[in-house]
Amino acid sequence: MIDIRSISPDQPVRIIIGAGDQDWPGWIPTHREELDLLNPADWENSFRFRRADAFLCEHVWEHLTETDGRFAATTCFRWLKPGGYLRCAVPDSHFPDKEYQQMAKVGGPGPKTHPAADHRIVYDYVLFSDIFAQAGFDVDLLEYCDEQGRFHYNQWSPDDGPVYRSLLMDHRNQDGIIKNVSLIIDAKKPA
Ligand SMILES: C[S@@+](CC[C@H](N)C(=O)[O-])C[C@H]1O[C@@H](n2cnc3c(N)ncnc32)[C@H](O)[C@@H]1O
Repeated sequence: MIDIRSISPDQPVRIIIGAGDQDWPGWIPTHREELDLLNPADWENSFRFRRADAFLCEHVWEHLTETDGRFAATTCFRWLKPGGYLRCAVPDSHFPDKEYQQMAKVGGPGPKTHPAADHRIVYDYVLFSDIFAQAGFDVDLLEYCDEQGRFHYNQWSPDDGPVYRSLLMDHRNQDGIIKNVSLIIDAKKPA
């Protein structure tokens, strides 16, 4: 359980879900063991009467089935304040790079011990947007590839939630060559 009550009422509640090693300033990293997207009791116990201002979740949703992803979206919707948002990034099925798709594919690249071995789905922007729209969110696409593999970037600020595997932050994107990006959305709960 994370103790949201220990955050002063005048401080924003900004939570990283499935943080792994990520620890960004101003954000509280959480892990599946304490805040499982598929375990409503974790959320009840952590939040109770408080709601989050923002959630950040990078490369987690692809580890859930589509059905579980839809369930997780409704959970995030429930525990956000009106006007709050979830910034969420996953691998992009339209990104035209063979190596990237080899890593992203369902089951991962091979060894069962690989971190991507439990990839359950590879999203494109249409399906991923639908997951959150159906949960009640307004969806804003920040980075994605279209059906022709063209990359689209709509200016966004890491101050509102850094995503490492993104055009500007990933060290592999250099000299005008894009090697690693994500499908990134802001899912906003209407005010
Ligand atoms: C590839 S790692 C990404 C870690 C980190 N967000 C990053 O971008 O480096 C996938 C993470 O998803 C988490 N995860 C998987 N299923 C989850 C669930 N049901 N609820 C919360 N986190 C989950 C795992 O524990 C793991 O930390």
